[in-house]
Amino acid sequence: MRVLSGVQPSGNLHIGNYFGAIRQFLRLQEEHECYYFLADLHALTTVQDPDRFRGLVRDLATGFLALGLDPARSVIYRQSDLPEVTELSWYLSTVTSMGLLQRCHSFKDKVAQGVVPSHGLFAYPVLMAADILIVKSDLVPVGKDQKQHLEVTRDIATSFHAVYDSEIFVLPEPLILDEVAVVPGVDGRKMSKSYDNTIDIFGPEKPIRKKIMSIVTDSTPVEDPKPTEDNALYDLLKLFAPDDSERSWVETAFSEGGLGYGDMKKRLFDYYLATFGDARARYDELKNDPAEVERILAAGAETARETAAPLMAKGRRAVGIR
Ligand code: ADP
Ligand code: TRP
Repeated sequence: MRVLSGVQPSGNLHIGNYFGAIRQFLRLQEEHECYYFLADLHALTTVQDPDRFRGLVRDLATGFLALGLDPARSVIYRQSDLPEVTELSWYLSTVTSMGLLQRCHSFKDKVAQGVVPSHGLFAYPVLMAADILIVKSDLVPVGKDQKQHLEVTRDIATSFHAVYDSEIFVLPEPLILDEVAVVPGVDGRKMSKSYDNTIDIFGPEKPIRKKIMSIVTDSTPVEDPKPTEDNALYDLLKLFAPDDSERSWVETAFSEGGLGYGDMKKRLFDYYLATFGDARARYDELKNDPAEVERILAAGAETARETAAPLMAKGRRAVGIR
């Protein structure tokens, strides 16, 4: 099985990204041939400040490696280092109907939020289809919000096959985990950088501790049992609890009462450090060695380009460019 996924460098990595995406990437690299990339071209649809952009790309690459994406097992690269992706994206766009893209929720949502849509934002799913099809991925681990983009990818591939009467693509399957469907943010809504409710994985400890201490809770008195329904603190403690005994500690703390939310938040901060302490230390080391990060990305790009070459040759022949 060949696995592929991408993350946009459009903000700091947060624990929603970890539990919703990167943890799956780590598991999958144990068993499959994996391609993980920084979707920098996609991020240009929202980040249009070049200095900030460069920093975000560097930080995401550093974060990928610090969290354990392993260049000895996975091909780790930057989307823009595989220029064939934009070439393929063009061929695909000529067999993609406007209607298919107009139906995309992510596009419609942005427009509904008042964003004046660029052509790049509209064409976003076509570029994503090229990312996936170019290395013939079988399986694409993504969050629920990306499900429709996978359907669009399959539609575009099918349409290319029909127009050019040549079956050159593999139709990919999404891998969407229900258990960690949504990691809540400190305000109880879905954790997302666009809501400013994230708990970051990297960066100085103090503001992260402060963020954890600011998780919104109700006014149940210390001695009373605490509700677990719609309780972000409970959900986060359950996500982080490292083993059965800690999980049952969480259950007891909520069902029996006697422990205040403040103490529970301190426990959550301990879990956070236990989960990410090693990765945070590796991140600080790698931050001081940007040449090593660049070296890994360059090697990944070389492998990705080799993998893409035969498919690109077939694609060019199919359309008549060669
Ligand atoms: P954001 O919502 O902060 O902009 P992205 O859209 O860049 O995050 O998400 C990158 C990856 O992390 C996607 O696979 C997405 O499904 C996953 N992810 C992001 N936020 C969460 C969350 N709160 N819960 C679960 N997964 C999430
Ligand atoms: N659109 C994805 C997201 O926002 C990122 C992405 C770009 C991607 N290309 C991809 C994910 C290809 C999987 C496969 O999360």
